[in-house]
Formats: sequence, structure tokens, C-alpha cells
Amino acid sequence: MEPDPPAPPLAPVDYNQVQHQTYAQGRILPAAAIASYMATFAGHLPDRRPLVGIDLGSGTGRFTPALAETFGGPIHGVEPAGGMRRIAEADSRHPRVTYLAGRAEAIPRPDVSADFVLMFLSYHHVTDKPAAAREIARVLKPGGRLILRSTFKDRIPDHWWRRYFPRSHDVERAMFPTEAETIALFEAAGFRTIAAVQMEVPFDGEIAALVARLKLRAVSVFEHMTEAELDDGFARIDADLAAGAIVEKPTYGDFIVFEKPAP
Ligand SMILES: C[S@@+](CC[C@H](N)C(=O)[O-])C[C@H]1O[C@@H](n2cnc3c(N)ncnc32)[C@H](O)[C@@H]1O
Repeated sequence: MEPDPPAPPLAPVDYNQVQHQTYAQGRILPAAAIASYMATFAGHLPDRRPLVGIDLGSGTGRFTPALAETFGGPIHGVEPAGGMRRIAEADSRHPRVTYLAGRAEAIPRPDVSADFVLMFLSYHHVTDKPAAAREIARVLKPGGRLILRSTFKDRIPDHWWRRYFPRSHDVERAMFPTEAETIALFEAAGFRTIAAVQMEVPFDGEIAALVARLKLRAVSVFEHMTEAELDDGFARIDADLAAGAIVEKPTYGDFIVFEKPAP
């Protein structure tokens, strides 16, 4: 039997259209979760301070000030969507953070200027991934590191809300690359793979608040689903919430650490 033809690529999500209006509120993380990410990332970066960093695809600046606090900075948040960047500039200010218009394929920073780059759930939005890998190699100092936090097609996390939106699994399989493809792409650009880490993402907080945030639809997979699918899923969530039947569970988040080798 012939294998199924590959699914057509998904249209890119433009964060200037809808997502910027709800992202900061819909994807807010408790301070403890931000601190836990910082501690985890610190374990994969040099101990010396300060470290100059780039938050590539910084969005509304969810992590950018914490990167400056943890690593000293300066930290440059690079973000293509003006709607997201303006929220970062207003609400995620820090004396050692600057937000810049730009994208992974054309990073507005000089050669050999950064100790680390963080891409937090932005890599799958990059259309020209080899160009992004070349640009990250250009801006990093020798020995500099890329922390690439992403979902991978071969390990789609089983979020508590997945069962209400069954097609979201297939949509995410079309959205994300595999871990092996990602490693091969960065190694072809000269990077060394240091670690592939799966960290637990705790089920954070009170379920009614999580439902209210999810209803803001600040999750890019929802951009690829129909209104009918979303309405149906949220109606079933409401019914289970009222019945106390939502199953809480932690999920896992993947990241890969790459190093630009010293010559
Ligand atoms: C899911 S949001 C993540 C934002 C932030 N890193 C966070 O975790 O809150 C994805 C971000 O990637 C940005 N993005 C899209 N295409 C990009 C590209 N080619 N280079 C860098 N960032 C991009 C989007 O505009 C959006 O702000």
C-alpha cells in the first residue's frame, strides 16, 4: 500500500492578528515556574556573570526580564510581531533588556556577540530553519549555547485539555519537527549537541483559572482548528468543570542544548 502523502504545511501563525491580544494573559506563568525554568537553563550555561543573551522570538517578554535578572545581560529580545513587541516594551521592561524588531533568519545583532540564545516555543514558527541556524551560529561567541525549547512531533505532550480537542494532536504533529530532524539541522550548521532534556511542567494552579486562561485561546494550535471544534471542546470542558471531572496531570516540556564549538 502507498504511504499517505505528507500533510500540506500549515499556514504560519501571524501573532499580529489575534494572538498578541491575549497571549500575555492566556500564557502567564507563576513566578515559581519562571524561576524553575531559569534554574534549569542556568544548569546548561556557564557559571560566570554577566552573560549576554538573546531571547529569540521573545513575544510579550514572558521570560526576557527574568533572563536579565538571572544571567546579568544585557538581554536582547528579538521579535517579528510588532503587536507582541509593543506589549513587551510596555509590560516587560527591565533596565538590561532591549526589544528589537527582527526574526531568527535575520538577527539584528553583531557577529560573535552573545553568550547564549534562548528560543522558547518560537522555533516551529521559523519558516527558513537552516537560515536561522546559520544566524544563531553567527551571533554566538565560540562556546556559546542555544537553548531550544520546543515541542517535537515524536513527543507531543499529553496536556490536560488534549481530550477535548482530539484533532489538536494531528495539528501539532504537522506544526512541529522531530527531535532528530532538529538535531541534524543544527549539527549541519556546525553546532554540537550537548543535551536533550525533558523537564516536568507542573499542573500549575487552580483548574477554573486554567480553563479561563485556555478560553483566551492563546495557543497557536487553536489557530488551525475550526470554530465548531473549539466551541465543542470548550462546551465539554465547561461540563466537566461543573462536574468536577477534569483530570489534572503534569506534562513534559522538551528542550535541546546546542553549543557553537570553539575553533
Ligand atoms: C508561542 S510565542 C513564544 C513567545 C515567547 N518566547 C514565550 O515563550 O512567551 C512564538 C513567538 O515566535 C515569534 N516568531 C514567529 N516567527 C518567528 C521568526 N521567524 N523568528 C523569531 N520569532 C518568530 C512569534 O511572533 C511569537 O511571538
